[in-house]
Amino acid sequence: MKILPMICLLSLPIAGLASPPTTRSFGHLPDGQAVHEYTLSNKNGLAVTVMDYGATVVNLVVPDSHGKLVDVALGFDTLEGYLSAKNPYFGCIVGRYANRIADGKFTLDGKVYQLPVNDGPNQLHGGPKGFDKRLWHGEILAGQNAVRFTRRSPDGEEGYPGNLDVSVTYSLNDANALRIDYLATTDKPTVLNLTNHTYYNLAGAGTGTILDHVLQLNASKYTPVNATLIPTGQMATVSGTPFDFREPTAMGDRIKQTGGKPVGYDHNFVLSKSPFIGRALAADALDPKTGRWLKVYTTQPGVQFYSGNFLDASFAGKGGKTYPQYSGFCLETQHFPDSPNHPNFPSTVLRPGETFKSSTVYVFGAD
Ligand code: GLA
Repeated sequence: MKILPMICLLSLPIAGLASPPTTRSFGHLPDGQAVHEYTLSNKNGLAVTVMDYGATVVNLVVPDSHGKLVDVALGFDTLEGYLSAKNPYFGCIVGRYANRIADGKFTLDGKVYQLPVNDGPNQLHGGPKGFDKRLWHGEILAGQNAVRFTRRSPDGEEGYPGNLDVSVTYSLNDANALRIDYLATTDKPTVLNLTNHTYYNLAGAGTGTILDHVLQLNASKYTPVNATLIPTGQMATVSGTPFDFREPTAMGDRIKQTGGKPVGYDHNFVLSKSPFIGRALAADALDPKTGRWLKVYTTQPGVQFYSGNFLDASFAGKGGKTYPQYSGFCLETQHFPDSPNHPNFPSTVLRPGETFKSSTVYVFGAD
C-alpha cells in the first residue's frame, strides 16, 4: 500500500483558486427554509457538491486516468429524495453520535441518559432526527477552496446533554484531496461521534455492485458485534476471518462468510498506529475496471466498513437508477460504536473547555 504522510495531505496548498467555490439553490424544506448547495472544484475536474441540509455530499465527480469524469457518490437528483424516509443516510454528516448506542442508553458522570431509539432496541446515527436531518449554516471561506457548515445542537436534542457547537469544513485541493475537518465544543459534558456517510461506487453511482472493488484496511483488529450490531466489547484479531483486509482483497470475496442479517460488512475496524505516520492511513479502495482509487486518511481511531447491505433497489436514485444490495460502500471514520458503554474503547466524552477536533482526508486517483 502506498502511504502518503497525512501531514503532507493536510498542508498541500490550495493553488491559485482557478475556479472558486460556487453556490446555488437546491430547493426548500417543507417549512419553507431554503436549501443551498456549494460546489468545490479543482484543476483536474474533480468536483464535490455539498448541501447545507445534513451538510451532505450530493455529488462527487472524479476523473479516471483518461480524465473521464463520473459521479462516484450514490444519492438523489432532488432535495425531495434526500428528505424521503427511504434515504439511507446518503452523503450526510452523522451525529451527535454516529453508529449505535445499545438500548439508546448510557451513563455519564453517574447520570443515566435515555435517548430515543430508532434501530430496533438501539439508537442509530444520533436518533430519529440526527444531524443528517438538520439544516446547517453554510459559508464559503474567503480565499479558500472550502465551505464550512455550522450548527448548534441544543441541550437535550435527541436526548443528549449540553449545547454543542459543531463545525464541519469541506476543502479540496489540486492533489485531489478532499478533506473534512470537524470541530465541536459543549457547555455540559456530553458524548460525541461524528462521521461522513458517503456511499461510493468508484465505477460510478448506479453502475452495479462494488463486490469486485479491492479493499485494503490498516487494521489488524475489529470490534465483533451481536445480532443488533452492538459491539461485544472485544477487540478481536482479523487474522483467519473474513475481516482480514490487511492485504488487498475484493470486497465480495468472503462477504458471504460475514454472517449478519442482511449478510455483509457492517463492522468497525480498529485502525493500527504506524510508527511513521501516526494513526493516519485507514483504507485504500480500488475499482479494477476503471482504475479509480480512493485512499482514506484519518485522525480517528476506527472506520466502519459498510458494504451497502441494506440497499435493495427499492427507490430511484440519481438519473432514475436504482441501487441494489452492495451497489455502494461506506468508509465511516469514527470512534467505535457504543463507546459510552465500553470503558475499554477510546473515550467519546467531550467536556466544557475542551475542543473536539478530527480530520479525514479522501484522496482520489486512477491508475
Ligand atoms: C451505517 C450502519 C448500517 C446502516 C447504515 C445506513 O453504516 O452501520 O448498519 O444503518 O449506516 O443504512
